[in-house]
Amino acid sequence: LRGKYIAAISASKDEAALEDVRLAALGKKGEISLKMRELGQMAPEDRQSFGAALNVLKDEIDAALRAAKAGLADAALNERLKTEWLDVTLPGRPRRMGTIHPVSQVMDELTAIFADIGFAVAEGPQVESDWFNFDALNIPPEHPARQEHDTFFMNRAPGDARPPHVLRTHTSPVQIRAMAAQGAPIRVIAPGRVYRMDMDQTHTPMFHQVEGLCIDRDISMANLKWTLEEFCRAFFEVPSVELRFRASHFPFTEPSAEVDIRYSNVGGQLKIGEGDKWMEILGSGMVHPKVLTAAGVDPNEWQGFAFGMGIDRLAMLKYGIPDLRAFFESDLRWLRHYGFAA
Ligand code: PHE
Repeated sequence: LRGKYIAAISASKDEAALEDVRLAALGKKGEISLKMRELGQMAPEDRQSFGAALNVLKDEIDAALRAAKAGLADAALNERLKTEWLDVTLPGRPRRMGTIHPVSQVMDELTAIFADIGFAVAEGPQVESDWFNFDALNIPPEHPARQEHDTFFMNRAPGDARPPHVLRTHTSPVQIRAMAAQGAPIRVIAPGRVYRMDMDQTHTPMFHQVEGLCIDRDISMANLKWTLEEFCRAFFEVPSVELRFRASHFPFTEPSAEVDIRYSNVGGQLKIGEGDKWMEILGSGMVHPKVLTAAGVDPNEWQGFAFGMGIDRLAMLKYGIPDLRAFFESDLRWLRHYGFAA
């Protein structure tokens, strides 16, 4: 028996053949298994020696089967190693990575700078009710500021019961939402998209603003000035900046100021913090008591400042990008040139 099965095992060329041999010898109805079963009918003296011999044989065949199986696997692996090989000296395939858009980059930068001076980030919807976008900001329906905003209005079916909505024309409605949600004191910025019907070298129908809002018991314009100077210094990475506050008017702040930053332009190279030119960078002021009231904050207890800044303009200034429209044309060459490594 031993000779027969060992020969059959060496003759097996694959796993299936080995399995056939195993079944023939050690399977339920295999030759050796049947012989084991016959042990019961033997005389006790014979049973002992015969049984022991059968067990040895069974183990031997089992071991031979395992060895043959391992040998087959080795051979298969060697065959693969011979045919499948890799030239590790070949150059790698270049992987085209996307870039961070300058607007995203600037949003990240300003969020980090304001976080350092205690401002959290607030958000609001881009499709905004005209109450949040205008009324709550002290711009009632007949106010001329509504016309100045070049507003996109959402379509309304006749009899639509929902309040009228617009594409928000500024991030100021987030002031109302943040105060209504969190109350005072509060310190937040709200970066995001805004929309106005306007298109030329420096205007696109969609652009980005960042709103700032700081309300507490004794916040003044001095705090506003410090905050903006601190931000500009950090953002433009210069040792000092000079800001000029010009009296202005916004319905939602009183007093109001537009803020210019000193810069120089030498052969198209803009430098912030020096020179004899001024560039307007934001609108600001002390939050109007009516705005606090509309947001559920008591103006007898709380006061503070707000500002609104153009993010795209900041990106153009800091990174020397000439045409705003190119920001939103998704030209891959532009994105690779002005984008940032992820
Ligand atoms: N919302 C104003 C604008 O879009 C900017 C602004 C914000 C002014 C906050 C004052 C206070 O022009």
